[in-house]
Amino acid sequence: MKAIEYLKYGLPDVLKLKEIEMPIPKSNEILIRIIATAVNSGDVRLRKADPFAVRLFFGLFKPKTNILGGVFSGKIEQIGSAVTLFKVGDEVFGHTDMSFGTYAEYKCLPENGSIALKPVTIIHNEAAVIPFGGITALHFIKKANITRGQRVLINGASGAVGTAAVQLAKHFGAIVTGVCSTSNIDLVKSIGADKVMDYTKEDFTKNGKTYDVIFDTVNKIVISESVKSLNVNGKLILSAAGISEMFHGLFVSMTSSRRIKVVTGVASHTADDINFLKVLIESGELKSVIDRTYSLEQMAEAHTYVEKGHKKGSVVITI
Ligand SMILES: NC(=O)c1ccc[n+]([C@@H]2O[C@H](COP(=O)([O-])OP(=O)(O)OC[C@H]3O[C@@H](n4cnc5c(N)ncnc54)[C@H](OP(=O)(O)O)[C@@H]3O)[C@@H](O)[C@H]2O)c1
Repeated sequence: MKAIEYLKYGLPDVLKLKEIEMPIPKSNEILIRIIATAVNSGDVRLRKADPFAVRLFFGLFKPKTNILGGVFSGKIEQIGSAVTLFKVGDEVFGHTDMSFGTYAEYKCLPENGSIALKPVTIIHNEAAVIPFGGITALHFIKKANITRGQRVLINGASGAVGTAAVQLAKHFGAIVTGVCSTSNIDLVKSIGADKVMDYTKEDFTKNGKTYDVIFDTVNKIVISESVKSLNVNGKLILSAAGISEMFHGLFVSMTSSRRIKVVTGVASHTADDINFLKVLIESGELKSVIDRTYSLEQMAEAHTYVEKGHKKGSVVITI
């Protein structure tokens, strides 16, 4: 099968198109023919080993996992002898968690992974881009316990995580302000934000408005300033935090006289989360936002674009 391999960390040109052996499903696994995947900000971090901590988990000198890609939409071609949840021919979408490997024509996954039947209302390209932003936003929204009537500001409302966060916070009944650049105002309005703030013209930490939750998806805020825009008992979600922001957040949570809590960490997920997103897609509450589409052969080009950090929603790879 065709796959995009990388054998060393580096620039997008470390991603090479190769012909490799097809995987064979174990008894508890399904073999998925990948029809679409996505290039996410996480893939770029792994390709570059940036931050350095990537090397501690994914290989100190060279990557241990040689095929990137953590999300997919496709069709089941084979099942292992013990598989009961899916059958050959099922159309599925999901997240591979830390096994990666969807920059390829085929991928085996355990049947009890973060996998669900593809929503019937959307095509594979649209399904493939849901799990990355969707499960990240869902994880942090649940952790911060966003509830009906709360005032929520989402910074970076135009990215993969941000577009999902706006729509999911609306689903949970929040009054949502999305913060984005001028060219993304219409997009953020179109996915349901009640208010949109253009960060090139207005600084949300300086306009006197306060929120119950501030969800920063891009790690471009000043924590000490943002905390002042939170109400008593407010939550600051830092989904893109590095180590230093995590420590800063811990310090704020431990010392805040206004009982502010900072929520950070790595998003986790199960099949229930993917099924939850599927239901929202089918009811029309969650829509895919696709910026550009590339072929498997154009992977380096797709990485170059995603690395710039200005994409609107997600970048799809069709296979
Ligand atoms: N904790 C976890 O488990 C977890 C999971 C997934 C992702 N992440 C992290 O989350 C981050 C975001 O991921 P993503 O995939 O959503 O990124 P992305 O799709 O690349 O989106 C970034 C978006 O933010 C906007 N932006 C850039 N500068 C901004 C600013 N100063 N203020 C407001 N918006 C700004 C960009 O548009 P403009 O430039 O036009 O404004 C772009 O639309 C990444 O660092 C990723 O590693 C963490």
